[in-house]
Amino acid sequence: MINFKTGSIFSRKTGGEHQTPEPESDNQVLAVWGSPSSGKTVVSVKLAKYLADKRRNVVLLLCDMTTPMVPCICPPSDIEHEKSLGSILAAAQVTDNLIRQNCILHRKQSFITIIGMLKGENVFTYPSYTAEQASELIGHLRNIAPNIIVDCGSTIAGDILSAVALMESDAVLRLVSCDIKSISYLSSQLPLLMDRKWDADKQYKIASNVKQYEAMENIEQILSGVAFKIPHSQEVEQQYLAGDLFRDLGLKESRGFRKEIEKISKEVFGI
Ligand SMILES: Nc1ncnc2c1ncn2[C@@H]1O[C@H](COP(=O)(O)OP(=O)(O)O)[C@@H](O)[C@H]1O
Ligand SMILES: [Mg+2]
Repeated sequence: MINFKTGSIFSRKTGGEHQTPEPESDNQVLAVWGSPSSGKTVVSVKLAKYLADKRRNVVLLLCDMTTPMVPCICPPSDIEHEKSLGSILAAAQVTDNLIRQNCILHRKQSFITIIGMLKGENVFTYPSYTAEQASELIGHLRNIAPNIIVDCGSTIAGDILSAVALMESDAVLRLVSCDIKSISYLSSQLPLLMDRKWDADKQYKIASNVKQYEAMENIEQILSGVAFKIPHSQEVEQQYLAGDLFRDLGLKESRGFRKEIEKISKEVFGI
């Protein structure tokens, strides 16, 4: 079983692990995680855009190794410096310079630096990487920008970078959509995190993409409370369909969504 293979970051160990030290600066790494299609990428991009609109530098690390998300969040013409996350993880040692050389720049969003896989790439495009390399990457990102948002993949068991980001981030948004599959997914994945390195207190439980007719109260009960409720927005959905999530949300209908992103940013980044 891949989940519990020897030496995996999910294998149960009996001591000898040292605590990760507190970040030395005010840097803030936020990991966005949750069930598949719960809105992790939407929330990550919109949070990054919110910070950038406030003229804060932000790194958006897109961890999805099975579906490169760069082509899904902005049109190719908006991308300036097309480099890949794969080149960072392929190097024997991760350095600030290596990261800077492999960042993707957005022509219209000068405060946002994107790191992710490119169109057509998959996990086999590059050599395999270790948890140490992933950890080095997360660590070095703290030198690149004061605000770091990691859009994690859902399947942490086979996704080293997402798993390491979850462990080493300062805060985690744990997204769930209001359906039975999402609840079932999380209850199957959470035991993987009940490792001593996982600090459950750093997570914010979030009901995401909540539609009017959904049983919100039931979800709150099942999760014993949620910190934020992000409503469904048709405008967001349309931007997603158009592959352009960096656009402003201007419609009145998106007010609830915008307000919630603002609340999350205040809570997590203090901005
Ligand atoms: N708040 C929201 N309002 C409208 N649509 C949403 C919202 N959140 C997510 N979606 C939709 O849900 C789908 C999955 O979103 P995505 O961010 O890719 O999920 P994930 O990254 O968790 O797999 C997309 O079609 C997206 O438009
Ligand atoms: Mg995603």
